[in-house]
Amino acid sequence: MTDTGSHPSNREKILIFDTTLRDGEQCPGATMTFEEKLEVADFLDEMGVDIIEAGFPIASDGDFEAVSEIAKRVKNATVAGLSRANTKDIDRAGEAVKHAARPRIHTFISTSPVHMKFKLQKEPDAVLELVTSSVTRARNLVDDVEWSAEDGTRTEHDFLCRCVEAAIKAGATTINIPDTVGYSVPEEYGAVFKMLRERVPGADGVVFSVHCHNDLGMAVANTIAGIEAGARQVECTINGIGERAGNAALEEIVMAIKTRADILPFQTGIDTAMLNRASRLVSAATSFPVQYNKAIVGRNAFAHESGIHQDGMLKHNQTYEIMTPESVGVSKTSLVMGKHSGRNAFRSKLEDLGYHLGENAFEDAFNRFKALADRKKQVYDEDIEALVDEEIATAADRMKVQALTVIAGTMGPQSATLTLDIDGESGALSGACGDRGDRRAGRSLGAA
Ligand code: KIV
Ligand code: ZN
Repeated sequence: MTDTGSHPSNREKILIFDTTLRDGEQCPGATMTFEEKLEVADFLDEMGVDIIEAGFPIASDGDFEAVSEIAKRVKNATVAGLSRANTKDIDRAGEAVKHAARPRIHTFISTSPVHMKFKLQKEPDAVLELVTSSVTRARNLVDDVEWSAEDGTRTEHDFLCRCVEAAIKAGATTINIPDTVGYSVPEEYGAVFKMLRERVPGADGVVFSVHCHNDLGMAVANTIAGIEAGARQVECTINGIGERAGNAALEEIVMAIKTRADILPFQTGIDTAMLNRASRLVSAATSFPVQYNKAIVGRNAFAHESGIHQDGMLKHNQTYEIMTPESVGVSKTSLVMGKHSGRNAFRSKLEDLGYHLGENAFEDAFNRFKALADRKKQVYDEDIEALVDEEIATAADRMKVQALTVIAGTMGPQSATLTLDIDGESGALSGACGDRGDRRAGRSLGAA
């Protein structure tokens, strides 16, 4: 929570390349309408994303239209269109992004033995030629060209070096090494970037980029390892949506960099207070629910139920939270009331709901709450209100009005006497006001 690292201006910037609208939308069932894509693109731009990959223009007319409209309206971010390594794809991507203030063509080809042999059915030398020709063609259309080695992490290192060198020579400005099948582990992935930066001529003149899939649940860890090894662009999606197990989640990477500023001397341009809304927006647009315990944006990410944790949180929020809910746009920590909740949390919940009970009434209410929590998974505010109101109503049953006498008028003296029966015992409360407005009050109530 405390930033013990260097001043923000000394921190190297990590470019956030969001591919929610391309790789994210590729995941089964996550299709978005034209309008939804525009809404998501506008939001990403406002949130501070550096590059928005708006789609794959050759894939369909709809994709082309969406990329083209996003290119026209986005104000700050670079807008990228994806293409395979052929003329038709590249020209279509160039056409789609041409109205962007900052257009980018992102072209890719597979470089691993298994992809070259079975998918492309091409020899490595033919692939190498395509690297040069595709990047050259893209560079004739735009100044900003990203080249990706699909299945880069399962590619032989010598061949990967030759491909990267060819891409740089042909004019690529960003080199992306995807872990396409989510196979890598952090140390190994970081070592690929270190190796490329040491071995490939011209490597210091380009931006290296990470692109990680989550098949083994290591997409974010691999992304951080890539950054530590010199990559300065990260490709990611909101909520981690994407092919199969998804892509590295933008919100997790950004908050890891921000929260661990003590050991990660980097910064991003993301307004983190917008992360929760971004998550809701993408979830609604794709109809993809966010898992409850999803890091950063899941509904349980700032919820505490166990009595020990709730007690700690009430004493100091840093006991069980490493970042504040407000920093990601969640209004506040929630103490979920359930069978694990303790007295302190229950008292604080009652106060939030506007109840101030005396000790006996509190004990009664707490016992009723525990009994209810044993039967019910989660006790909602309305349940607590109902059980406290019941408590008050029961107390009211014990007290009955026997008589009320009021003497009123413009000429004094005025007086009122209330006679109550409390638990079978009767007593009176009286008050009087004299001619000159003096007040007297007295009571003769036993139990009251
Ligand atoms: O995962 C991947 O390899 C990709 C490329 C097209 C960049 O998404
Ligand atoms: Zn991908």
